Amino acid sequence: MRAKCSVFIATSLDGYISRPDGSIDWLNEANASVPEGEDCGYGAFIRTVDVLVMGRNTFELALTFDAWPYESLQVVVLSSHGVAVPEGLAQTVSVSSESPAQLVARLAALGRKHLYVDGGKTIQSFLADDLVDEMTITLIPVLLGAGRPLFGPLQADKRLSLLASRAFEFGFVQNRYRVEAKPAEPRR
Ligand SMILES: NC(=O)c1ccc[n+]([C@@H]2O[C@H](COP(=O)([O-])OP(=O)(O)OC[C@H]3O[C@@H](n4cnc5c(N)ncnc54)[C@H](OP(=O)(O)O)[C@@H]3O)[C@@H](O)[C@H]2O)c1
Repeated sequence: MRAKCSVFIATSLDGYISRPDGSIDWLNEANASVPEGEDCGYGAFIRTVDVLVMGRNTFELALTFDAWPYESLQVVVLSSHGVAVPEGLAQTVSVSSESPAQLVARLAALGRKHLYVDGGKTIQSFLADDLVDEMTITLIPVLLGAGRPLFGPLQADKRLSLLASRAFEFGFVQNRYRVEAKPAEPRR
């Protein structure tokens, strides 16, 4: 059976996951208004994940954080050129140039059941290959006007079903969707 692939990500109201230069200062600022102890479901989600698959850009951003945020979780970084992994992360982080389908198949064969797919371009390529099963998208009440988008071009429409929706009193709105497996009718 194919491993389940999920997205769990925050975007600006106009659909950006970072500024054009990759910075997420706006997200850090918004998170500062979140009451202590509230993680918007992230902890419960990450406990169900076997492998985190991220794009090189997301990896490089995570390396700038004060501490590596993923502890012992296995991480695969997608990069066609390769990227250096700091020695301290060599036990948990590997780099791959596989296609999304090859990677998902290899990880499923190793018994990995739930993959967390992160990074805009990476999510877009998994979506284009019909490999995303669920998306939890937290809308942050800010308009950036420009940035790196969560979504991009598609060959055909993708239908989603809303599984849950939650509005937080501090202004975040979180929607969880199932991505429907059946392809929509080709565009005319
Ligand atoms: N708002 C949030 O919750 C959130 C979450 C995660 C990340 N972010 C932000 O998003 C930014 C990164 O997103 P991004 O869209 O720039 O890129 P990304 O998906 O993190 O990284 C893209 C890079 O991954 C590599 N790659 C290899 N195989 C790929 C494949 N099949 N599909 C796509 N990429 C593949 C390529 O690197 P090579 O050039 O090496 O081949 C590509 O340039 C970060 O700066 C971070 O700030 C925000």
